[in-house]
Amino acid sequence: MLSEFLSAIETELQKQVARLDEPRAKNFHEMLTYHMGWTGEGAGPEATGKRIRPLIVLLTTASCGANWQFALPAAAAVELVHNFSLVHDDIEDNGEKRRGRTTVWKKWGLAQGVNAGDGLFVLSNLALTDLEADYPAPIVLRAAKILHATCLDLTRGQFLDISYEARTDLGVADYWPMVSGKTAALIAACCQLGALLGGADETRQEAYRAFGHYLGLAFQVQDDILGIWGDEALTGKSAASDLVDGKKSLPVLFGLEKNGEFAKRWRQGPIHAEEVRALAALLETESARTSAQDAARQMTDLALENLRVANPQGEAGESLKQLADKLLQRGA
Ligand code: IPE
Ligand code: IPE
Ligand code: MG
Ligand code: MG
Repeated sequence: MLSEFLSAIETELQKQVARLDEPRAKNFHEMLTYHMGWTGEGAGPEATGKRIRPLIVLLTTASCGANWQFALPAAAAVELVHNFSLVHDDIEDNGEKRRGRTTVWKKWGLAQGVNAGDGLFVLSNLALTDLEADYPAPIVLRAAKILHATCLDLTRGQFLDISYEARTDLGVADYWPMVSGKTAALIAACCQLGALLGGADETRQEAYRAFGHYLGLAFQVQDDILGIWGDEALTGKSAASDLVDGKKSLPVLFGLEKNGEFAKRWRQGPIHAEEVRALAALLETESARTSAQDAARQMTDLALENLRVANPQGEAGESLKQLADKLLQRGA
């Protein structure tokens, strides 16, 4: 089932991105197909990313007992939003590697990086309008409202993430509003859209949405852990950059609240790349890693509780449950 979904997602994404393929702007199309993992050096399954968001849309629709193929434009739309946010995020975070390859802005420059992200964003909105082939207009409009509100949440979350870099007065409580926006909003929307397109009533849509929200929080905590202790060969991203950038990831906030040796060094000013390994070890000794792992587990449990309320059906329902555990154990 998953491989059938994944190949349908790839076909739909390629169709959507082809919208901006035009003879005069070949290189622009190429920036997007490069980022999506289809062309250029290192292209292939490793370079596309996991595609978990479109997968969640389709699994949710199927788990409501509806035809998942009708939801494909929405699946493409959420993955395009995600990829727009990654292209811009790599500019914002000075990220040089994404999915093991050179980032778009590093390859084509800052200005074209911004433009490539904009292109992906607009394509996501256009993709969603293709739902009109199989759904009545009020459903398409509702889906568009969900997606647009999500993009607003996402950019607000990114605002907090960036503005936190320079701050020294933050604790664990400040973390959740930031990640609710930058990561959980989109995963929650994937579930809500999937349920809407699957014909679920409002109450059930809300339960699916809550599942996605908590899954998104757990997912970002796990990403934070990998951002410090992960294997770069698996994550495809630099393991040093979060600490060097002063990111208020969850382990860092636990470390700061502990007010031990790590916090002392953090307060002295920016972390240098050479110190990252020692500081990661220090954070671990001060139990920031296990505290973050506990938080990820708690969020996953809350996700699964809400999924039970949503009552997903069949093989797709089973896959949604398994996904939650798989994401928590992931190395990339
Ligand atoms: C990375 O998301 C950004 C976060 C929200 C943590 P993914 O880990 O889903 O990225 P890809 O698409 O699989 O590369
Ligand atoms: C993830 O941002 C959320 C978005 C891209 C909106 P991060 O900066 O935490 O994620 P990575 O580690 O670069 O993928
Ligand atoms: Mg970021
Ligand atoms: Mg980043």
